Amino acid sequence: MAPAHGGSLLTGTAAGSYDWPALFARRTARGGDELTAILSLAAATDVITFSGGFPAPEAFPVDVLSELVERLLRQNAAVALQYSPTEGLPTARAAVATLLEQTQGPAIDPAEVLITSGGIEGLQLLARTLIEPGDRVLVEAPTYLGAIMAFAGFEADVEGVRIDADGLRIEDVEAALSSGRPPKLLYVIPDHQNPSGLSLSPERRQQLVELCRRHGLLIVEDVAYRELGFEGQAAPSLWSLAPDVVVQLGTFSKILAPGMRLGWAVGPSSLIGAMTAAKQNSDQCAGALGQTIMAEYVTAGHLDSTLRTARALYGRRAQAMLDALATHMPEGVTWTRPAGGFFVWLTAPEHVDTRALVAPAARLGVAYVPGAPFYTDTRGGNQMRLSYSRADDASIDEGIRRLATLIRAEL
Ligand SMILES: Cc1ncc(COP(=O)(O)O)c(C=O)c1O
Repeated sequence: MAPAHGGSLLTGTAAGSYDWPALFARRTARGGDELTAILSLAAATDVITFSGGFPAPEAFPVDVLSELVERLLRQNAAVALQYSPTEGLPTARAAVATLLEQTQGPAIDPAEVLITSGGIEGLQLLARTLIEPGDRVLVEAPTYLGAIMAFAGFEADVEGVRIDADGLRIEDVEAALSSGRPPKLLYVIPDHQNPSGLSLSPERRQQLVELCRRHGLLIVEDVAYRELGFEGQAAPSLWSLAPDVVVQLGTFSKILAPGMRLGWAVGPSSLIGAMTAAKQNSDQCAGALGQTIMAEYVTAGHLDSTLRTARALYGRRAQAMLDALATHMPEGVTWTRPAGGFFVWLTAPEHVDTRALVAPAARLGVAYVPGAPFYTDTRGGNQMRLSYSRADDASIDEGIRRLATLIRAEL
């Protein structure tokens, strides 16, 4: 239930009985519980967890990082342990600029890069910079729960646009643009999307940037899983196609380690400037220690080998999950076939309520995220997100077998 607002701490009647929710700002009613529950499962050791979008600990480059931490602290503690400029350390910004040039094409000046404390902070800064209460924001349906929460947390009206096997449906974006108030922005995850695992086709990328440019609509491109394609070259990033209308948010969480809490934002300079000003009022700067390590890691070329290992590992696990689904799932259940990233998106027959199955699944020792929270409307009740990234091959098969038993009982 939404809390009442406008209360005061003094409305409490006796020590210890204050009505805390009455004090909360209206925006706190827009949730966070679902993500908190996912993160709490991260610590569980007795369940097969297909829930959070967690990288495999085996993919963390522990040896290289240990050596770097030791050396950087010995050589450069005055920088690594100090505050950094709000926009990031020059070495970190230069490392991201180099990485983007190598992986996406456009050469950029490091001065155009904002270093963030992870991808989610990029979203927060962007929402804080752009969103007025009631602003219309378009997202893919389904989309990343953290993004829905970031926009809804600033009281946007978040509206889902359908996707299919080739990603966002351009005619549906067009329809959304030709009715109602002009949206403030469109948020897209073009590569190995969270939660569907699907990608936006190269043809649609071009169509999308042209359409948005025509309508003067800002595209927010989230490239969290872009470098985790199992084979071949990724399609051009939206930012590389249209740096004038795209702000790109990236993260090192999936390609290096979420414990670093590091990401980036690049895009139109006045927007990046406003986001930097917003950062001054939040954490002031990303941790310099992490920035120093990341800069050295990227510049020395270690990321290439980390990514090679990660792609092979996640590709194998994705295949193990697809094989297990094909073996165990009953007729009438369908799922996506990701070519990268962490997720398979499963659709059960209409009447199956995946939220209601969370508790029985937990009793069977399996965790997943039900589909509904990834939508901004009533869709997704019969869907679920299955993450293969942190489960080993044997437990993938066993976990899917248990889930299949539960779903079969519902048919
Ligand atoms: C699409 C997407 N964007 C951003 C993030 C957040 O990344 P970070 O851990 O860097 O905050 C995630 C994490 O799950 C994600 O899936």
